[in-house]
Amino acid sequence: MTRTAPSSILGLTAADLKPTAEFAAWCDAHDPLASFRDEFEIPRGADGHPVSYMVGNSLGLMAKTSRRLVTEELDDWATLGAEGHVHGRRPWVWYHEHFRAGLASLAGAKESEVVAMNTLTANLHFLLMSFYRPAGARRRILVERGAFPSDRFAVRSFVRAIGGEEAIDVVEVAPREGEECLRNADIEATIAREGDSLALVLLSGVQYYTGQVLDIANITRAAHAVGARCGWDLAHAMGNVELRLHDWGADFACWCSYKYLNGGPGAVAGAFIHERHHGTPPPRLEGWWGTNPSNRFEMGPRFEPGPGADAWQVSNPPILSLAPLRASLDLFQKAGMESLVCKARAMTGFIEMALRDRGANGVRILTPPATSERGCQLSISLEGPPERARRVFESLKPRGVYCDFRHPRVIRAAPAPLYTSFGDCWRLVDAIASVL
Ligand SMILES: Cc1ncc(COP(=O)(O)O)c(C=O)c1O
Repeated sequence: MTRTAPSSILGLTAADLKPTAEFAAWCDAHDPLASFRDEFEIPRGADGHPVSYMVGNSLGLMAKTSRRLVTEELDDWATLGAEGHVHGRRPWVWYHEHFRAGLASLAGAKESEVVAMNTLTANLHFLLMSFYRPAGARRRILVERGAFPSDRFAVRSFVRAIGGEEAIDVVEVAPREGEECLRNADIEATIAREGDSLALVLLSGVQYYTGQVLDIANITRAAHAVGARCGWDLAHAMGNVELRLHDWGADFACWCSYKYLNGGPGAVAGAFIHERHHGTPPPRLEGWWGTNPSNRFEMGPRFEPGPGADAWQVSNPPILSLAPLRASLDLFQKAGMESLVCKARAMTGFIEMALRDRGANGVRILTPPATSERGCQLSISLEGPPERARRVFESLKPRGVYCDFRHPRVIRAAPAPLYTSFGDCWRLVDAIASVL
């Protein structure tokens, strides 16, 4: 498998798409990324055939080499015991370093700016501690009203824990009345209006419910223009959309690795801390794994930080939970994010137009139509009574199509381009349209 130039991803424009099974088969036959599908274990349905798996926005599939990589670590543990820390085939003391290049490339960051550590909500708390530093009149934090519940809980509990007042210190942005998606201009206007009162803006790069991609570059710029910091939850963005966190100047970001990064259930998460915070870092919660590895084991009494984002680590990493991520990051490197984004655009465009063409009744796509505002997730709202939407959703699995459902009537379908085929996309459309 070789890296594929994005222009050669089928060379499709919206006008080329045709809403037929034959067209889907043609795309699969000409898709230069098609062979990556063979690198993954694809669950099988009741008929014994691989399902059309569209739930990579919840839990990505297992790369086949994950099993070997986990087994190798188990073998080193079995044969070497504690010696594995330094004499294993990939010594555990330096294990997290294997992820730097892959994560930096997906985050659009320098290698020193990223680190694989903890879990997502834990990282949100750690990074709030460093970057939400209310002082004087500058004490508010801007979040999204419809943010994923864990983000809401993290922010609000953090504000309370440091003696703030939720009702005053937490400012929310929301879609306009009758709209589902946020407007970037509204977010920027709220930032400007809050001005000197704003300490931090914390938003999701890709909204979990609608699949909307926010304008990270301009929102970050707007936050900095009023003297606030800006951080990003990239749970639905890493491995889904192209990111340039360093150039965009984000202060920090964090993500989980079990969705598009295919790291496995509960996989070790990741964090980005811009290099301008490395030299004179803000206060942070410390642990021994954040210290300099060259003298960590001298067990000195003082915290001597390791380089860059590594200094934010607190504990030695869970090797068995990190191992599968290596397999997937290698595949991302080979496929190239640009190519994957092109394929995702073609697939979401195909699903949308095929649903329209099949006359799927009462279907509304919540995800914005502009390619700059969507990744590979389509949020399909089934209008009418929620029970009907639920019924349609429940009819998909027996037809070999795995999606997820978000209350009250949204089916989220995420054709992750590393392992999803155009045939899968057609199967989704066919299943929805035939039920409706
Ligand atoms: C946007 C977002 N934030 C936070 C979380 C919570 O992640 P974790 O359970 O890994 O802390 C999720 C989980 O799906 C999420 O989608």
